[in-house]
Amino acid sequence: MRGVIFRGLEELVVEAIGMQAWDELLEAHAPEGRVYVSPTSYPDAELFALAQGVADKLNKPLTDVLAIFGQSLFGFLAEKHKGISSKFASFEELVLSIDSVIHMEVKKLYDEPNLPSIAAIVKDDKTIVLEYCSNRKLCFCAEGLLYGAAQFYSRKLKIEHPQCMHSGAKHCVLILHLD
Ligand code: HEM
Ligand code: ZN
Repeated sequence: MRGVIFRGLEELVVEAIGMQAWDELLEAHAPEGRVYVSPTSYPDAELFALAQGVADKLNKPLTDVLAIFGQSLFGFLAEKHKGISSKFASFEELVLSIDSVIHMEVKKLYDEPNLPSIAAIVKDDKTIVLEYCSNRKLCFCAEGLLYGAAQFYSRKLKIEHPQCMHSGAKHCVLILHLD
């Protein structure tokens, strides 16, 4: 995972529980002297260990922490890459462009990024069905990112997650219900 994602986690942790907590997490779960540089890749296992460390500190399930992280990560990525995030007039437009535009642009900016595959199908004007697939199985983080995007466009969103890679499915199904 790119440094930019770790920096997003750092921002959230520092805001929520303070710099000392982040330093403790780094000490426990990262090699000594680790500094995350946005375009550089770091082991996925390190991100999961840090997220698990946050979950332990807050006494919350890892899935909750990944969802909260995803939600704050959206604002962080959108702000960092305004050129990409400002292309979309609506939540729907953005969601339908995750693979074809957003992550395509990410591929131009970062050398060989590890991205999920996210297919979107519009069911009706209030419902979009997403199929998420990635060997990192970060579907809870994807849910959070989607909630963050809904917040960005001041939209009310509910997500159903009836099929999940964590239960052995080939891909996750996320049903987005908009108001
Ligand atoms: C990685 C989903 C919007 C840039 C990821 C990952 C997920 C995801 C789940 C983790 C990797 C994986 O699952 O395999 C989404 C969703 C979005 C969204 C659902 C919108 C609702 C954005 C935006 C940007 C962005 C707006 C920036 C312009 C990235 C980058 C990575 C990433 C840089 C890391 C790539 C790497 O570590 O190599 N995205 N994303 N995403 N996304 Fe997105
Ligand atoms: Zn899932």
